[in-house]
Amino acid sequence: MLSPMFRLRHKSALLRHELAYVLGQMQNNVALPTLIERLSDLEEHIMVRHEAAEAMGAIDDHSAKPTLERFLSDVNIEVAESCEVALDLLNWCRTAEWEDTSW
Ligand SMILES: [Fe+2]
Repeated sequence: MLSPMFRLRHKSALLRHELAYVLGQMQNNVALPTLIERLSDLEEHIMVRHEAAEAMGAIDDHSAKPTLERFLSDVNIEVAESCEVALDLLNWCRTAEWEDTSW
């Protein structure tokens, strides 16, 4: 688990993006501080910031909401829209519709 988090500082933006995706799929909130850091780093590649936001939406932990809300107005529309989608997912996962969904 720790390995993908540490490698989120790898020089390849494509790899960092893939690692952020994996952390989201793992759905372990231990990854949240690292994902928050990548999303909040304005020097980070947009693709990585986008994927960090998506991953934060996939991890059902509402402590991610303030950070996602902070970047709803990010100058990069891809980042802003990713935060919007992540917040929608976090909110939807607490609804009766989510509970009644069969997978
Ligand atoms: Fe994505």
